[in-house]
Amino acid sequence: MSKLFTPFTAGALSLAHRVVMAPLTRLRADPGDKASALMRDYYTQRTSQGGLIISEATPVAREGYGYAGAPGIYEDAQIEGWRAVTEAVHARGGKIVMQLWHVGRQSHPELQPGGKAPVAPSAIQAEGDAYTPNGPRPFSMPRALERHEIPAVIDQFRQGAARAKAAGFDGVEIHGANGYLPDQFLQDGTNHRTDEYGGPIENRARFLLEITQAAIEVWGADRVGVRISPSGTYGSMSDSNPQETFGYIAEKLSVLGIAYLHIVEPRIKGTELISDSKPVAAQQLRQHFHGTLLAAGGFTGESAEAILQAGDADAVAFGRFFISNPDLPERLRHTLPLTEYDRTTFYGGGTHGYTDYPKAQSSD
Ligand SMILES: Cc1cc2nc3c(=O)[nH]c(=O)nc-3n(C[C@H](O)[C@H](O)[C@H](O)COP(=O)(O)O)c2cc1C
Repeated sequence: MSKLFTPFTAGALSLAHRVVMAPLTRLRADPGDKASALMRDYYTQRTSQGGLIISEATPVAREGYGYAGAPGIYEDAQIEGWRAVTEAVHARGGKIVMQLWHVGRQSHPELQPGGKAPVAPSAIQAEGDAYTPNGPRPFSMPRALERHEIPAVIDQFRQGAARAKAAGFDGVEIHGANGYLPDQFLQDGTNHRTDEYGGPIENRARFLLEITQAAIEVWGADRVGVRISPSGTYGSMSDSNPQETFGYIAEKLSVLGIAYLHIVEPRIKGTELISDSKPVAAQQLRQHFHGTLLAAGGFTGESAEAILQAGDADAVAFGRFFISNPDLPERLRHTLPLTEYDRTTFYGGGTHGYTDYPKAQSSD
């Protein structure tokens, strides 16, 4: 029997099925980095009864911004647009959590207040491009955060979590994956600090654990999820001992009793499948994390069912297929063919490649 279409809980969230919409940056916000009416339509289309949506990554600070067109949650004026999204999702019987984001070094002075250098744990540059209003620009050399500046960054996550609550979300997910600021602290390739936020894993994990704790103070642990990408290399990431690093963080998050741990399989690099290996990360971290576990990265309906049957995950998040199949849960439930996605419309633009993917004939 299919396990994908059985209920499960993630902390305080009771869900009717296990096909989760992964966080997907689409860069279609209104001026002022406000969630747009078009975004509301897109999320409404992807809502299913009792299904869970994780919002696109949403910066908690102007300094945490790396992609022009991303919707923010760093100002009160950004609450209203998001409230329209959460109301529409709730009206269709779905649940939605906001992914809280700070890109750290994956940015560029053209996106930063005052044209300053982006911030990071250490002054080490990443390869790749930021999306500025003037087009792609190579990530620039970041400035290492001073020890005394760190509490203010943690507070930005706290305030983002509070605004997400005011906007009517069902919870928040800390974006600790894909080489952004919390991941930059966690992994030793990007963290060369010598204070209590660098060095041994107990110190490198401190930043992610403190922002998680800040979100917990706003929401309660049972409405806070965390996403990590063990051994992920996107954003020029590396770690000398990934098993220890990610085992440690999974164990600590388990003790905090968060709603779920969301794991991106290392076969995915950002938005691309780089190997066809079997999922491993969720299985390994199951030993360290005793709560609800979401797996993501390169899943099909069949392989999602397999990982659930094996007991290595409790739910599966789908990214690219949710872009091109607004009714993905229904299609998987009835084994209907999936529409292929068009990469050229992933980032920015209007309705094309966003809200104009059709539903399957037989689904409502
Ligand atoms: C267009 C696009 C945007 C993405 N944006 C985010 C994001 O905002 N936050 C995040 O954690 N992952 C993001 N990802 C990664 C996805 O959540 C997911 O991990 C990845 O696509 C692999 O899953 P899939 O094989 O089902 O697509 C993005 C992926 C794509 C294709």
